Parts: sequence; C-alpha cells; structure tokens
Amino acid sequence: MTDDELKEIKSAVAAITYGLYVVGTASGGRINGQTCNTVFQVTSEPVQVAIGINQRNLTHDLIMESGVFSVSVLANDGHDLVRKFGYRSGRTADKYEGVPYFTGVTGAPILEECLAYLECRVQKELCLNCGTHSLFVARVEAGGVRNAGEPMTYAYFAATKFGKK
Ligand SMILES: Cc1cc2nc3c(=O)[nH]c(=O)nc-3n(C[C@H](O)[C@H](O)[C@H](O)COP(=O)(O)O)c2cc1C
Repeated sequence: MTDDELKEIKSAVAAITYGLYVVGTASGGRINGQTCNTVFQVTSEPVQVAIGINQRNLTHDLIMESGVFSVSVLANDGHDLVRKFGYRSGRTADKYEGVPYFTGVTGAPILEECLAYLECRVQKELCLNCGTHSLFVARVEAGGVRNAGEPMTYAYFAATKFGKK
C-alpha cells in the first residue's frame, strides 16, 4: 500500500461517526474512568455492547481485573467531562474528585450528569486482543435514562472544543 492510499483510507475511516461516553470501572475498591468514543451495541437479545480500550490505560487494567464497566452517555455540553476523563490518566489523578457519581449493580461509577447509562459485565470468551487496543464485549445488566438533552458526538466535540469551556 502506498502512503497516499493509506492517507485515503484514514480519511475514509475518519468519516465514521461516534458518540462520546465516559467508561467507568471499579476493581478492588479502586474506581477509574476514561473518555471513550468506541462504544456500540452488538446485539439486542441479549443486549450486548462493545468498547475499544487502549491496553495502556488504567481503565483497561481495572476492566481486565474486575470484568465490569459502566457507560455514561454525555450531553453535548459535556466538554469539561470529555477533557477531565480523556486528557489525563487515573494513574496520576483522581478523575472523580468533584464529579458527582453513583454506583449500581456492578460497582462501576456512573456520572450523575449523564443522559443515560449502562452497567456491563464482560463476556470474556467474546473479547479480542486487537494489538494496541482490546475489544471488550459485555452483557448489559442494568441501565437507565437520567436526564433530557442531546447526546455529545465526537464530531461536535471536535468542532466546538476550542469555543466552549
Ligand atoms: C474525544 C476522546 C475520545 C477518546 N476515545 C477513546 C477510545 O475510544 N478508546 C480509548 O482507549 N481511549 C480513548 N480516548 C483516550 C482516553 O480517554 C485517555 O487515554 C485517558 O487518559 C485514559 O485514562 P486512564 O489511563 O485513566 O484509563 C479518548 C480521548 C478523547 C479526548
């Protein structure tokens, strides 16, 4: 493949649309979470979702340990949350400090400010090591709609991140 062909492929991939979420997890009394755009439904019966997580992330380590995670759907004014959970690692900061959250059946933290949330249990046999990232497929054990509003998209965040606090 030539450099030009690769560039064209990357441009095509960049046209895929995403939402933005905070994936939270808990293991051994420790909680952490990260911004994530790679969240999608895989099946509806049973309800299963998948997430793509970089193997270097603390969130990855904790999900590997406990097998649980939450997905908090961000509103389109959630720029500060995207930054707080996406621009630094829980290895060096307590990202939940000053951020209201609650826990449900899995113990993974769920943001109070979310529009909706899912609580998920990883189906180990369905997960994949994809090199830099892992694909975690999980059964949704609980969920709910919390607040009205428009969901944040990756494109909207990218277009407004310098214009909004
Ligand atoms: C807009 C945005 C989208 C992101 N999407 C993903 C993603 O889908 N998967 C991923 O592993 N990291 C993603 N990240 C990066 C992580 O949020 C980031 O590396 C985070 O600091 C990891 O934190 P942790 O080490 O506390 O787990 C995204 C970051 C931003 C700002």
